[in-house]
Amino acid sequence: MAFPERRLRRLRRTPALRRLVAETRLGVDDLVLPAFVRQGIDHPQPIGSLPGVVQHTRESLRKEARRLVDLGVPGLILFGVPEAKDAEGSQAFATDGIVQVALRDVRDEVGDALVLMADLCLDEYTDSGHCGVLDAAGQPDNDRTLELYGRVAVAQAEAGADVCAPSGMMDGQVAAIRRALDGSGHEQVAIVAYAAKYASALYGPFRDAVDVTIAGGGDRRGYQQDPRNRREARAEVALDLDEGADVVMVKPALAYLDVIADVRSAVDVPVAAYHVSGEYSMLKAAAERGWIDHDAVALEHLTSIKRAGADLIFTYLAADAAELLRG
Ligand code: PBG
Repeated sequence: MAFPERRLRRLRRTPALRRLVAETRLGVDDLVLPAFVRQGIDHPQPIGSLPGVVQHTRESLRKEARRLVDLGVPGLILFGVPEAKDAEGSQAFATDGIVQVALRDVRDEVGDALVLMADLCLDEYTDSGHCGVLDAAGQPDNDRTLELYGRVAVAQAEAGADVCAPSGMMDGQVAAIRRALDGSGHEQVAIVAYAAKYASALYGPFRDAVDVTIAGGGDRRGYQQDPRNRREARAEVALDLDEGADVVMVKPALAYLDVIADVRSAVDVPVAAYHVSGEYSMLKAAAERGWIDHDAVALEHLTSIKRAGADLIFTYLAADAAELLRG
């Protein structure tokens, strides 16, 4: 008998063999593009720390949506940058708030060809930069914030969102949003819950993209998860499912692949992962210096997120990846 007996290299010999036995298949259907739309601008604004990503005008967002449909990308999630911020973040639920207006534009442009998601949070809209209205101690007041989230959900649903995606990490937010949606005749609107969302330093470039600075040099550690905690993610996910989440998300992605794998094995609903701004920017920066191969690393990273167990991947690379996957 030949030695060694078991030769794993046999199935790696040709590209066709490798294709046949690949365990993980990244596809265009897995992708959701996060996009920023800014009120009151005439031209798209580049975002310095997110090369290739812009703050869209209403018009350029329409074109981007059309491009996604042409590329076959199924999902788009919108983040708004309002002209004015206030204590309650009222532009998040104003009928003519930028995300509501943009949802109507994009629906008009592409119909049902794209799943239209709206990030549901207040941080882009509050003058404090926090994800809710503040209590006397300067932290988001959980239950007063839930009332506002309910109003945001209804405004987004009326504007035609298919999905509300609460990202504020208030306790009970999924239940409050489900109740608000059902109570206003929007039973069909789904909830993609940012369930295990960590207090990550990788969100830095995103905060440039939405012009958010947290008041007084504060942070979100009082409500987002501690990066040291793995089991706690299961508790977050279980609660969100109890409260009515249709899809649960882990965020960020690459530094939390263990959490994605845990969540995948614990639930039967679709699992999403958010490849966040800092993950994208690190790739762009290293590639710009010629230190790594952009396209190869991009696909390797997204494939790893899929391999860990994510069904949906939110990534600023969605359009690039769709082009690469088409070949
Ligand atoms: C909160 C929100 C954030 C991101 C998505 N939704 C920022 C935060 O929690 O500070 C980050 C996304 C990214 O970094 O790409 N509305």
